[in-house]
Amino acid sequence: MIVLENLKKKYSETDRPAVNNLNLKIGEGETCVLVGPSGCGKTTTLKMVNRLIEPTEGTIYINDKDIREEDPITLRRGIGYVIQEIGLFPHMTIYENIATVPRELNWEENKIKDKVFALMELMDLDPDIYSKRRPGNLSGGQRQRVGVARAMAADPPVMLMDEPFGAVDPITRGRLQDEFLNMQEKFQKTIVFVTHDINEALKMGTKIAVMKDGKLVQYSTPDELLSQPENEFVEDLIGGDSTLKRLNLIAAREKMKDPLLTAFDDETVEEVRERVGTKPGNRIFVIDKNNHLLGYFPKVELKREGQVKEFIQPLKTTIADFTRLSEALSEMLDVGESSVCVVDEDDVLQGIVELQDIIEAAKSRDKGE
Ligand SMILES: Nc1ncnc2c1ncn2[C@@H]1O[C@H](COP(=O)(O)OP(=O)(O)OP(=O)(O)O)[C@@H](O)[C@H]1O
Ligand SMILES: [Mg+2]
Repeated sequence: MIVLENLKKKYSETDRPAVNNLNLKIGEGETCVLVGPSGCGKTTTLKMVNRLIEPTEGTIYINDKDIREEDPITLRRGIGYVIQEIGLFPHMTIYENIATVPRELNWEENKIKDKVFALMELMDLDPDIYSKRRPGNLSGGQRQRVGVARAMAADPPVMLMDEPFGAVDPITRGRLQDEFLNMQEKFQKTIVFVTHDINEALKMGTKIAVMKDGKLVQYSTPDELLSQPENEFVEDLIGGDSTLKRLNLIAAREKMKDPLLTAFDDETVEEVRERVGTKPGNRIFVIDKNNHLLGYFPKVELKREGQVKEFIQPLKTTIADFTRLSEALSEMLDVGESSVCVVDEDDVLQGIVELQDIIEAAKSRDKGE
């Protein structure tokens, strides 16, 4: 756990403080995102956590220990740091850059190699091509990814990441964010993550700290930030489409239900007619005996005679249980339907999300529930 207590940094007597009376508690395994305009004190805050800068006032504790009592070099080995200016060693190869801390820790070279190669793969950099190159022969976005790999190399329990994906194109950035979230789910590191981008903050953070002029404006979960912004500054930062952004935080699995209308492909229409009767809905979802979703049976065909499988219509779209409600909504609008089925990777039906559920989800959050 990281605790910042009454933290203040004045670079000079005359300037206003870069960080001003900041109090923040970051729980173990949490990703705290610092977000706010340029110059609000994000980098200064990070650098105080690994003692690259000493605070003017206040105290920082990591796992209940005042970091002033720790040797700065030892402290920094336990903290992965992705620097805003990337800061690779120009005369060293990419391999050597990433291997820096493991070598300081005297890991065996085999173990180092495995780790470096695995991290390069994770960051989408082919080790065969890039491991022997020097930073000068890489693009800005590639260098930035090397910086992230280097910070992760010794598996530090704490990571400080200063705009780690700022120089990467939007598509690669999205993929790296996803990889990072996967990794975080597994390893549960304690992370302080800096970004300008509110969407990145909402996606990556378990907690978001909004800063302005060195001060903390709001510290809350992404959902609270969207549903209960503290003031106009936070509202402006979020932008106009806060409801859609809220729907972007909720996965389909949280709101899906069992479909009301289903039929097996080997049933007769008559059997289905008797069972379904006057239940609401215009599509009856057809599954096989292993619950694979095959399509739908239009309810208007219930007056027909024959087998269900003769009348199956294909579905225009389905979603996964991790699909966000905003995307589910977009899928529904694309195909002009008011519901969408949730299936797993083998097309086994898991549930259904209806437009009404999405509207309810947006509403309930309006009340800040
Ligand atoms: N070494 C320094 N000496 C004097 N002032 C500094 C120094 N470093 C930063 N500052 C000032 O402190 C304030 C906070 O800077 P900081 O780098 O922490 O902002 P930031 O939130 O990281 O901004 P950005 O989003 O642009 O990276 C700014 O006004 C900056 O000019
Ligand atoms: Mg900065």
